[in-house]
Amino acid sequence: MLSSWWSAAMTPPSTLSPFTEACLFVCLPAVLWSRPRLGSCSVCVGRASELGERTKAESCGGISSRRRGSMTRELRRLSRARRWISGLLTLSCLVDLASAYPLCTSMEAPVKYSQNLGFCTATEYRDKGCCSPREDNRTKMTFDSMNITDANCAAIVKQILCAKCDAFSATLFGHMNQENRKIPYLCTKSSKSNLTTTTGQSYCQDVWEACASVPMKNSIFAPVLLPGTSPSPSSSSNRNLAAQDGSLGSVFKSKDQFCAVMGPSASAGDEFCFDGAPFSAPPAPSNFTFPQDICVEKVGEDAYLNLVPFPDGSNRAAVSNQAGTVWLATIPEPGKAMVYNISAPFLDISDRVTNENELGFLGFAFHPDFKTNGRFFVSYNCDKQKWADCGGTCACNKETNCNPSDLRSGQLGGDGGTNPCRYSSIIAEYTVNSSVDPSASPLKAEVANPLEVRRIFTMALPYSTHHAGGLLFGPLDNYLYYMLGDGGNTGDPFNFAQNKKSLLGKILRLDVDNLPSATQITDQGLWGEYTAPKDNPFFGQNGSRPEIWALGLRNPWRCTFDSQNPTYMYCGDIGQERVQEVNLISKGGNYGWRIFEGNSTYVPPISPGGNTSARSVQAIFPILQYVHDQPELMGGPSAITGGYVSYSREDPCLYGKYVYADLFGTMWASSEVPKYSGNFRSSQINYLCSASSPLNCTLEGNSTSPELQEILSFGLDKSANFYILASNGVYRVVHPQNCGRVCTEVLPALPPIGAPAPSGSPSSTGASSPGPAPAQNSARSSRSQFLHISFALTLAALGSALGFIL
Ligand SMILES: *[C@@H]1O[C@H](CO)[C@@H](O)[C@H](O)[C@H]1NC(C)=O
Ligand SMILES: *[C@@H]1O[C@H](CO)[C@@H](O)[C@H](O)[C@H]1NC(C)=O
Ligand SMILES: *[C@@H]1O[C@H](CO)[C@@H](O)[C@H](O)[C@H]1NC(C)=O
Ligand SMILES: *[C@@H]1O[C@H](CO)[C@@H](O)[C@H](O)[C@H]1NC(C)=O
Ligand SMILES: *[C@@H]1O[C@H](CO)[C@@H](O)[C@H](O)[C@H]1NC(C)=O
Ligand SMILES: *[C@@H]1O[C@H](CO)[C@@H](O)[C@H](O)[C@H]1NC(C)=O
Ligand SMILES: *[C@@H]1O[C@H](CO)[C@@H](O)[C@H](O)[C@H]1NC(C)=O
Ligand SMILES: *[C@@H]1O[C@H](CO)[C@@H](O)[C@H](O)[C@H]1NC(C)=O
Ligand SMILES: *[C@@H]1O[C@H](CO)[C@@H](O)[C@H](O)[C@H]1NC(C)=O
Ligand SMILES: *[C@@H]1O[C@H](CO)[C@@H](O)[C@H](O)[C@H]1NC(C)=O
Ligand SMILES: *[C@@H]1O[C@H](CO)[C@@H](O)[C@H](O)[C@H]1NC(C)=O
Repeated sequence: MLSSWWSAAMTPPSTLSPFTEACLFVCLPAVLWSRPRLGSCSVCVGRASELGERTKAESCGGISSRRRGSMTRELRRLSRARRWISGLLTLSCLVDLASAYPLCTSMEAPVKYSQNLGFCTATEYRDKGCCSPREDNRTKMTFDSMNITDANCAAIVKQILCAKCDAFSATLFGHMNQENRKIPYLCTKSSKSNLTTTTGQSYCQDVWEACASVPMKNSIFAPVLLPGTSPSPSSSSNRNLAAQDGSLGSVFKSKDQFCAVMGPSASAGDEFCFDGAPFSAPPAPSNFTFPQDICVEKVGEDAYLNLVPFPDGSNRAAVSNQAGTVWLATIPEPGKAMVYNISAPFLDISDRVTNENELGFLGFAFHPDFKTNGRFFVSYNCDKQKWADCGGTCACNKETNCNPSDLRSGQLGGDGGTNPCRYSSIIAEYTVNSSVDPSASPLKAEVANPLEVRRIFTMALPYSTHHAGGLLFGPLDNYLYYMLGDGGNTGDPFNFAQNKKSLLGKILRLDVDNLPSATQITDQGLWGEYTAPKDNPFFGQNGSRPEIWALGLRNPWRCTFDSQNPTYMYCGDIGQERVQEVNLISKGGNYGWRIFEGNSTYVPPISPGGNTSARSVQAIFPILQYVHDQPELMGGPSAITGGYVSYSREDPCLYGKYVYADLFGTMWASSEVPKYSGNFRSSQINYLCSASSPLNCTLEGNSTSPELQEILSFGLDKSANFYILASNGVYRVVHPQNCGRVCTEVLPALPPIGAPAPSGSPSSTGASSPGPAPAQNSARSSRSQFLHISFALTLAALGSALGFIL
């Protein structure tokens, strides 16, 4: 097998197809290579010089999909060979940005302050800190109100209060565990403080000794009663608190009890605590490993962009395609294929969805209370020339320094041609609740009410590319997050992504439970029927849209919350010329586009919308990035597809890893090591076909490489199984032993049956499939008459899914 790869690789490049054909090829992982981790970022072949302008690459998908049908096997081989060469040449194009990702208790990224802080004076807190001068004043007031007369204790209490300004304060104050402590976790092992009373003690012991008998008013330590900590202070001392002097000794029985309550969090690890000095993350363990490959089975034949568990706790999931049809499919046991009745969709709005290249039905989300209210939300694109109800205010308008007539022609020409703002991005609400039986629970629904309940959002677009379109409900706040790209064209000419008056290039956070009045819609210039939560970062700020949660994104294609650490929102953001990035989204964060692409500065070819100076913003760089389009390395087009943190119990070696991919086939696993340190690492992973795949997983009988073609999206089911949604079908990650691989990692125990699911973990509701269960029988499901294996339809779906979102 290896030798046939070799012989193909030896074919002179001159005989290879031009770029448009090269883009057709199927990106197989390098599973047959004997050397691990050759690395290959530039998966689609074709020299940059062949590409001409980037826009040609963007249309490549459309061309290739038309040609796909006639593509010969030989061509595929050649393209693979070419990719192989490209892989060899781009050995180190995957870049690990070991940039720390600290977070403040406000859940915003720390910033550099131009002003000195008056109270918390440590220079580290000014260079990358969490206390604005105003917050610093508040800290001083808290300190003054405690009226601590002992100098030593006062100094140590000041240190503890100022830990709020630390760049890692969200971790130190327990916000990552959804605690909200008044004081940080105090280290029980070490002390860096220069105020120690007794040398060689832990910081927590120092605090005790300095303050045990010092009276305090409004003590931040009492009544502490931290949630979930034990032993808690004795109840009698709490009851009598008013009669006491507020000293630590009057609240806690002993030093040991004090340090047991104040000590580090078990979940964050004992290094994540405050020891008197600005926090620095511990180094990564040297023995940290990533899996080299994952094992998948093919469970569906069609191309979907969403796979979302139906909230009834059953093994059903809603799957939706780019054309605008949603089915409720039964998620099978390992070794069986997905089942649904193609003639009985859950919802079909394909008549209003425009399904071309990057346009289509992009987002789908059930309301968190779907069980009782039956509400769900979809996002899609439409064309006002084809559907009268499509129109909306154009994102290119006076507010955003954009004149729709500029879009008619030339470099700025929009795809609407003589009809600018022709396409729109829409969020629409639907319901199941009166579709069949008005009295039935939404959970019994087999089909949705086809009538749109309300139009949540409509925005006409300047161009037909970069709409992102993902929909997610925040696991902690239940608000609807909506991803919007920069509006299209090269280099965001109108600078929408940096313009806080524009919603393009943003992540929006919307309240769809408190709907606006008609006057609110006009007064606030809302784009539909939603309200903006008051704690959105720019709410009430003149010159900023209240809907914005984060900005500076180009095309955030697939954002997800980490179900077990829901303060983490990961986004893949598709780059322009060079860099594909993974960002960790924080409240109000500016991810730099188009001042930066990845962590390097970017200069747009045209900029009628004006520039934003790099000095005026504090851009947050990606946690991970990879580089493509390096002409000397035959780099090719590339587009990231953001993934999920896998908690699949099928593959213990992938557990807790954030998995993402390039549209053209390369996949990576990544991890923050140690947890909360802000240091991310990633490693390319190969994929193999399970021996017991229910559907034909490979192109060639003998191959072990799955034939994914483009990786469009990812999905999770209710048991946290991990799915790759590829243009060639649905692939589920199964235990590595199904591919003859060994994984010795041990899964963390499941919570006992009946125990509440970890907060914000929608996928942990059901019992998981019990460990590895490789089905030896590859026979199809007995319900195979429902099995939808329509090759023609697959091709049709491909026609539009390809070239998607570049
Ligand atoms: C960008 O990331 C690369 C790779 O880690 C690093 O070498 C480079 O210094 C970074 N550049 C900036 C401006 O941070
Ligand atoms: C902080 O307090 C000082 C005086 O106590 C005052 O002059 C200053 O304006 C305050 N700063 C802010 C940002 O509130
Ligand atoms: C602060 O403490 C001192 C000494 O215990 C006391 O004299 C003073 O009244 C206290 N001030 C306030 C505002 O409580
Ligand atoms: C002790 O720490 C404080 C605050 O960080 C600093 O201003 C002071 O210079 C330090 N003193 C010594 C002796 O290191
Ligand atoms: C890595 O090392 C740590 C401590 O040195 C140990 O607890 C852990 O089990 C090791 N992990 C692996 C995968 O070897
Ligand atoms: C599939 O759905 C169609 C339309 O509702 C229905 O007529 C048909 O009986 C269904 N097929 C099966 C096997 O249930
Ligand atoms: C049915 O759905 C509509 C729209 O979401 C909602 O207004 C109504 O209250 C729902 N009815 C019931 C019984 O849940
Ligand atoms: C917002 O700013 C503009 C221009 O700076 C000003 O004309 C307008 O009055 C301001 N609006 C409010 C509500 O402050
Ligand atoms: C924006 O910056 C670029 C590069 O520095 C420059 O060529 C262009 O003229 C600027 N555009 C405007 C409107 O200032
Ligand atoms: C899978 O597809 C390959 C190539 O088309 C074919 O050779 C093989 O027989 C198929 N296997 C099954 C089980 O259908
Ligand atoms: C599959 O294996 C058989 C026997 O080893 C071999 O004859 C055949 O050429 C192989 N097929 C492919 C496509 O490599």
